[in-house]
Amino acid sequence: MHGVGDGRFFDRFARLYDWLMPAADRRSLAAALSRADGDVDRLLDLGGGTGRATIAVDAPERMVVDISRPMLQRARTRTTAGPGRPSDPPGPLATLQGDAGRLPVGDDAVDAAIVVDAFHHMPAQPAVVSEVQRVLRPGGVFVVREFDPSHPLGWVLARGEHAIGMESTFHPPADLAEMLADEGFSVEVLDSGFEYTLVGTNR
Ligand SMILES: C[S@@+](CC[C@H](N)C(=O)[O-])C[C@H]1O[C@@H](n2cnc3c(N)ncnc32)[C@H](O)[C@@H]1O
Repeated sequence: MHGVGDGRFFDRFARLYDWLMPAADRRSLAAALSRADGDVDRLLDLGGGTGRATIAVDAPERMVVDISRPMLQRARTRTTAGPGRPSDPPGPLATLQGDAGRLPVGDDAVDAAIVVDAFHHMPAQPAVVSEVQRVLRPGGVFVVREFDPSHPLGWVLARGEHAIGMESTFHPPADLAEMLADEGFSVEVLDSGFEYTLVGTNR
C-alpha cells in the first residue's frame, strides 16, 4: 500500500519501535487538548503507529490511523489502559489503515486530531491539514508535536533521516503555524525547543 512517504521504513521498524522509543509526553498532549471548546470524546491519532501517543491521551474513543500495517498490528496488541476515563471499557485500540491526507472519515466527525512525531513523514502535508480541518467539528483541536529543524538537535535529526533515505520535511514552529492558519485554524505554539507542540483550533 506504499509509495506514500516514509511508511515503508516503519513497516520494517515496527517490531523494534516501542523498545527504542520513550513514552509520549502526556503532559504536553493534555495541555494541548485542553484548548478544545467542549469535551474531547472522539480523537484520531494520525500517523499514530503503534499507539504510543494514543494511550497517553484522555478520550473515550481513540482511533489510530496509519499507513503502515505492521505498525498498526502492534497498536492492536495494546489495550485502552492508560489515562482514559473511569467509564472507559477496557479493550484493544481501534485502528484504521490509511493515508492521513485522505481520511475515510466524515465531516465534523471528531473532537480532536493529534499527530505526534509523524507530520514530517507525511508527503502531502497541506492535504493532511486540510483533511483535519474537514473532519474536526467547530471548536475541535489539531495538535501537532514536531521537531524543530532550526534547533541544533532538530538539524541533526533531519540530516540523519535524510541520510538513511527518508523523505522527511520538517518545519520550524512559525512556518507550521502559518500552514495551519492558512487553512483557517487559530494557532498557538505551546512549547518550543528540539520538540515543540502546536495546537490549532478549528474556528
Ligand atoms: C515516527 S512514527 C510515529 C508514530 C507515533 N505517532 C508515535 O508517536 O509513536 C511515524 C508514523 O507515521 C506514519 N506515516 C507516515 N506517512 C503517513 C501517512 N501518509 N499517513 C499516515 N501515516 C503515515 C508511519 O507509518 C509511522 O507509523
